Amino acid sequence: MIGKIKEMANIDPSLGTSIFFSVKISDSLFKKFSDLIYQKAGIYLKPEKGKRLRACGFTSFAEYYNYVTQDKSGIEIVNLLDCISTNFTSFFREQAHFDLLDSHVLPSLMDRGKRNNEILLWSAACSSGEEPYSMAIILEEFVNKNPGLRYTIKATDISTKVLAHAQRGVYSKDKVTNIPKQLLKKYFQKGVGKSEGFVRIKGNVRSKIIFKRFNLMDEFPGHNPCDVVFCRNVMIYFNRATQQKLIDKFYQVLSPDGYLFIGHSESLANLKHNFKQVAATAYCK
Ligand SMILES: C[S@@+](CC[C@H](N)C(=O)[O-])C[C@H]1O[C@@H](n2cnc3c(N)ncnc32)[C@H](O)[C@@H]1O
Repeated sequence: MIGKIKEMANIDPSLGTSIFFSVKISDSLFKKFSDLIYQKAGIYLKPEKGKRLRACGFTSFAEYYNYVTQDKSGIEIVNLLDCISTNFTSFFREQAHFDLLDSHVLPSLMDRGKRNNEILLWSAACSSGEEPYSMAIILEEFVNKNPGLRYTIKATDISTKVLAHAQRGVYSKDKVTNIPKQLLKKYFQKGVGKSEGFVRIKGNVRSKIIFKRFNLMDEFPGHNPCDVVFCRNVMIYFNRATQQKLIDKFYQVLSPDGYLFIGHSESLANLKHNFKQVAATAYCK
């Protein structure tokens, strides 16, 4: 069914994978969809998005709604969430965070002798992988200068589509133009033949990252406290109550001196928390 929708939908490139429908949807049906999406992913479809949905519309929405909600396999809701999530990301997006990771966070975690110098980082809403791979490049460079530190990066997202891309680790050349040449050479393979125009993250870096589908609305696994969490440019889609729950869960999952990074356009200002701010949109437990 989702294939049929995609066929008929207009894809707006400025909004990544979001789909917009070309015929009218009633207010009550839009509300049903937005409630379903909120309940499943915490994503609050703003009225502007609703306007776009209404403006573009789709005739068999009622039929599709029944299909999604009655699909016992759970596959169709995953497909729907794949379609509505906004996946924009880039390598070293919000560079200041990666500078802080290198200059302050890693040295301070190392000084504190974190669990025999083994640290766990989490890219929680990793999209197509640019964020966790940027983290891994910083970590690799740091470890070269500071042998003895071991790390694992967990990278999760609700969308199976972006996760599949992330796991492949293949990007068109225009996506890596802001990566310094020496890092590009060190950490990426150039595509040849059919893969001309593409680069792929080298296997030794890919192997440092565990990709997994995870919905931030779900309970966090209790084991393995994290030392660093990047949860950037996703809370912005959640309402305040959902953001509060999420921040509380991050506080719980972080190790006593762990760090949380949120997106530059996000804020903890209206939320209750015990984090100490260490830089713009960067916090320490
Ligand atoms: C705009 S991207 C941000 C990617 C990256 N963190 C960055 O800052 O560049 C937002 C990502 O959040 C994911 N997302 C949305 N709702 C989610 C949820 N409830 N649980 C996990 N991931 C979610 C989307 O699939 C999308 O890949």
